[in-house]
Amino acid sequence: MPASLLLDDLAAFAPHAVAVTGDLVNFALPAEFIAARDILHRIGPPGRVSVIPGNHDALVPVPWAQGIGQWAEWMRDDDAGEGFPFVHRRGPAALVGLSTAIPTPPGWAAGRLGAAQLGLLGQRLAALREEGLFRVVLIHHPPCGENRRRGLRDRAALLDVLAREGAELLLHGHSHRPGLVPLPGPGGSPVPAIGVPPALAGAGRHHLSRWHLHRVTPSAGGWWLETLVRGYDPQAQRFATLGEWRLRVAAPVSTAV
Ligand SMILES: [Fe+2]
Repeated sequence: MPASLLLDDLAAFAPHAVAVTGDLVNFALPAEFIAARDILHRIGPPGRVSVIPGNHDALVPVPWAQGIGQWAEWMRDDDAGEGFPFVHRRGPAALVGLSTAIPTPPGWAAGRLGAAQLGLLGQRLAALREEGLFRVVLIHHPPCGENRRRGLRDRAALLDVLAREGAELLLHGHSHRPGLVPLPGPGGSPVPAIGVPPALAGAGRHHLSRWHLHRVTPSAGGWWLETLVRGYDPQAQRFATLGEWRLRVAAPVSTAV
């Protein structure tokens, strides 16, 4: 399936922001990172597109400049800083990008955030809550539902941060299947975690290609989150709407004094 079918479908909806949650490459070869950068250019400019890496993007140690650094423009913080987490403010939303990408032994696909990134995540979520933004955490590995070989090693620490600071939405990839899981949030308000299968599934699996369009609308006491599921129809050779749902997301309670 040519990538142009996906890119044309994305463009038809003209989203204000696009989040790419990894994996972008397969074997972490230098040529793959350059090819992925070309695709990112076709998706949109850094001011509209946010990228985080997945485990395949760090399958083997690759120097930053020849590897993930090829996508630095789409990962740079609003304040021009490098590193994770980054924050991209997009209208009423703030995208908080994390990296779980670490080299792993053959046959493994695990990820890890690390204490430093988790500490900064808590600070960023607290500050963005006070700005009243719809906080969207971007992470490749889901916070639950994967085994030790494929899962997030410090998932318990991530769940602690989310339970303490909250977030209005978490988006992940990695699991190759759709998912909607309510994670524990502060004050009994769950954090919806939504997973999406690959937007460009591999050979023989093109019919599994999906992407999600999320619409965020402020409303009294919180937000409405509407999600449209777009999937590839091999017979029609184009993407089509497979379903949609709507979630009520409560506004967080401010802890500022
Ligand atoms: Fe992955």
